[in-house]
Amino acid sequence: MCGIVGYTGKRCSITTLLDGLARLEYRGYDSAGLAVLEDGQLKLVKSVGKVKNLKKNVAATWPNPEKCTASTGIAHTRWATHGEPTEANAHPHLDGSGKFAIVHNGIIDNYLDLRKHLQEQGCVFKSETDSEVLAHLIHQCYEGDLLHAAAAASKKLKGTFGFAVICTDKPEEIAVARRGSPLVIGVGNNETLIASDIAAIAAYTKRVIFLNDDDLALITPDKIDIRNIENVPVSREIAKIDWDVAAAEKNGYEHFMLKEIFEQPEAVANTIRGRFDNKVFTSIMSGLNMSPDELASVKRIVIAACGTSMNAGMVGEYYFEDIAGIPTEVEQAAEFRYRNPIIEDNTMVLAISQSGETADTLAAVREAKNKGGIVAAINNVVGSTIARETGRGIYLHAGPEIGVASTKAFTCQVTALLLMALLFGRNRRLERHEGKNLINDIKNIPELIKQVLARAGEIEKIAKKYAKAENFFFIGRGCLYPTALEGALKLKEISYIHAEGYHAAELKHGPIALLEENVPVLALANDIPGKDKIIANIQECKARKSPVIATATVGDTEISELTDDILWIPHCSSFIAPIPTVVALQLFSYYIAKERGCEIDQPRNLAKSVTVE
Ligand code: F6R
Repeated sequence: MCGIVGYTGKRCSITTLLDGLARLEYRGYDSAGLAVLEDGQLKLVKSVGKVKNLKKNVAATWPNPEKCTASTGIAHTRWATHGEPTEANAHPHLDGSGKFAIVHNGIIDNYLDLRKHLQEQGCVFKSETDSEVLAHLIHQCYEGDLLHAAAAASKKLKGTFGFAVICTDKPEEIAVARRGSPLVIGVGNNETLIASDIAAIAAYTKRVIFLNDDDLALITPDKIDIRNIENVPVSREIAKIDWDVAAAEKNGYEHFMLKEIFEQPEAVANTIRGRFDNKVFTSIMSGLNMSPDELASVKRIVIAACGTSMNAGMVGEYYFEDIAGIPTEVEQAAEFRYRNPIIEDNTMVLAISQSGETADTLAAVREAKNKGGIVAAINNVVGSTIARETGRGIYLHAGPEIGVASTKAFTCQVTALLLMALLFGRNRRLERHEGKNLINDIKNIPELIKQVLARAGEIEKIAKKYAKAENFFFIGRGCLYPTALEGALKLKEISYIHAEGYHAAELKHGPIALLEENVPVLALANDIPGKDKIIANIQECKARKSPVIATATVGDTEISELTDDILWIPHCSSFIAPIPTVVALQLFSYYIAKERGCEIDQPRNLAKSVTVE
């Protein structure tokens, strides 16, 4: 959740570190800091708040960065877990002698025991963090070899970590280690970088090495020495990434979220590109690496995911059951490993994760593999831990998603699930002509999204009317039920309005008690099977004086006469409906949050990728 960047090379490291931190800011951002080696000394600068505050403090320390000789350094943006966002708690942390500086992502579960033990030996702690123990431990384990010290310290840790350490004795070295938190090495010309996320270093090199759990590495400007925790050299491939740095810029949009909402026609087109077999009317998913017999052997699908990805998974449940006839369940990834799930040989566990780094989803993948299921993933970030550990699956190709609130990942995940359901369906009960119709529907998704985006102005006007509400309900049925959950999630996370998503029928089993004139209900009332039922639910809300906003199919006067405001959705089948509908809900939330003056791309308390349990 926090971000790490490191640099060792021939240039001054400071500009690269600050640039990397700025590109990581979307991950976690309550404080930041950097430590560099300059003239044999460790220099440390920290600040509370955004990277721009750190930049100011850095400018005060190095008024002429071009003259700075600090060519090795590490930096960090923090998302507080242990201890409030203060300068003392910000990383890097030093050991007592001031010889070692560390940055750490993850959570050290046994830090209290370690801290007590270190204090008994005279170590003085300056922060409340779990991470600081690492600096003291590395100092204790150091006998002149930084990598050995990092390995010895790692062995004492329980929990998750991705860390980097520098030492005044070793002006060109950075030692790194990972277990459970991502770390990638960037291979440059006479310079080597490290980061928790390729976004931080992609401007400097496209050649990267993804470390595995319990890998350690010692990097210098021209050497990378990778070992396992037992000090045995291991070889890891250099991957070439096609990360487009411009794609991670705002390109004139006011917020990343808005840009990413508007990118959805292209993002979905990228998800479906090259994935249709127009001879037998199925989809092509070579990444799944499954023969027709293997596809036919799947008797049950369990989807494990968190947050928005779980909502996408719930839409997928309808697809797999209705289109392919495969019994499907959706599990909160956080619960999966703790409830002893039944996973048989012919169960496919499908992990869905935009980042591919979510700790709970990763843990579910490991549990499923351990239980012998067929484990596959739907990920966006290429080379992410979940993608590598599952070894089979589908990439979304949606491009970097920087806004904390997930938008294009959801629509692309739903599209990918539909493609998968088509594949399984054609392998079982779906007729040729049904496959053909579904392919035509899927091909039309980008166009449907464009039609919703063209109504952004209309949606903005409606959103402004409701921006003062403090409570909201979102209701839907069928595939539009998980869409309602996603709509409510979007609204609450970026506007801080309390919003609940419910199945429309469930409202009268309790939540209806909360309805009154200040509590708007957003009803997903598109013209698809179940519309007559949702009309009855809308009547129930109106009878309690709640204002009702509806999503409705263009031209549907029955709904517009019944409700206060309408978000118009182009005509489409019920399988496709979640996609254009959610786009309208994303815009609705965005404009409400904007009207309320919220920090849309970086909502309070949230981080883009949740790498702790
Ligand atoms: C909400 C949001 C989160 C993520 C969740 C899972 O807008 O972004 O709910 O969907 O943290 O993240 P991934 O998909 O990276 O596993």
